[in-house]
Amino acid sequence: MLVNMSKLLADAQKGDYAVGSFSVANMEMVLGVLKAAKELNAPVILQIAEVRLKQSPLEIIGPLMVAAAKNADTPVAVHFDHGKTIEKINQALELGFTSVMFDGSHLELDENIKITKEVITLAKKYGADVEAEIGCVGGSEDGSEDIAINCTKPYDAVKFEKETNVDALAIAIGNAHGNYKSTPKLRFDILEQVEKNTKLPLVLHGGTGISPDDFIRCSHTGIKKINIATATFDSVEYEVRDAYKNDEIGGYYDLQAAEVEGAYQNAKRHILIFGTDNKA
Ligand code: 13P
Repeated sequence: MLVNMSKLLADAQKGDYAVGSFSVANMEMVLGVLKAAKELNAPVILQIAEVRLKQSPLEIIGPLMVAAAKNADTPVAVHFDHGKTIEKINQALELGFTSVMFDGSHLELDENIKITKEVITLAKKYGADVEAEIGCVGGSEDGSEDIAINCTKPYDAVKFEKETNVDALAIAIGNAHGNYKSTPKLRFDILEQVEKNTKLPLVLHGGTGISPDDFIRCSHTGIKKINIATATFDSVEYEVRDAYKNDEIGGYYDLQAAEVEGAYQNAKRHILIFGTDNKA
């Protein structure tokens, strides 16, 4: 069933786990994620980032995501990731997304606060939730920009919470989008400071390549939403290559099944690490 992200994150705060937010680019990925969610009786978030709309137009994939969530056996939120323009954020809200992210991480804090508040006012009209980001997570969602990591200052998080009361806050603690070039060293000292001084559900972007131990530690230290994109795309590609190598693709529908399987395997692995199984 289609639900609000804030409900899933409030439950995750009570239950001390994190919810996986899986980026999808087509129907097969949606089906794979929801198959894992059903099998593990887990709530999940389906998301797509604004930079990905070149490949997957919002007016086509958006209704598909919302319909799949409504049809799902477990609670599913549909989220617009890294919203950059009010135009696209508005379109996602019109299509029935239950949350949107406004990514003002490149702006001065006061400007980020100002626009986030405008997005909150807009989203409220649709009963939708808002995620914001402070500090800078490395790289960009589609790898097209080499954005440097700029760790969140805990006192900025306190100010941001007080002035916006946003529904979820993405913070930068040494995490980056895409495959890491070297093992990431997350700044748990910063995360602990933010957790201690705010009540907001925190969001970890750049989930691909973070170790299970670090995911678990994050999930017990205020991180309630974990974004996974590259790992899904890589898993789908791997599964398709493997099926070809093993001569398992006899036609288009075998290829489609391999794509679903890749997304399913990846979502299942992460749901189990995040502790979201049997939390629907
Ligand atoms: P990864 O591609 O590193 O998993 O990052 C996903 C993400 O944070 C999407 O916003």
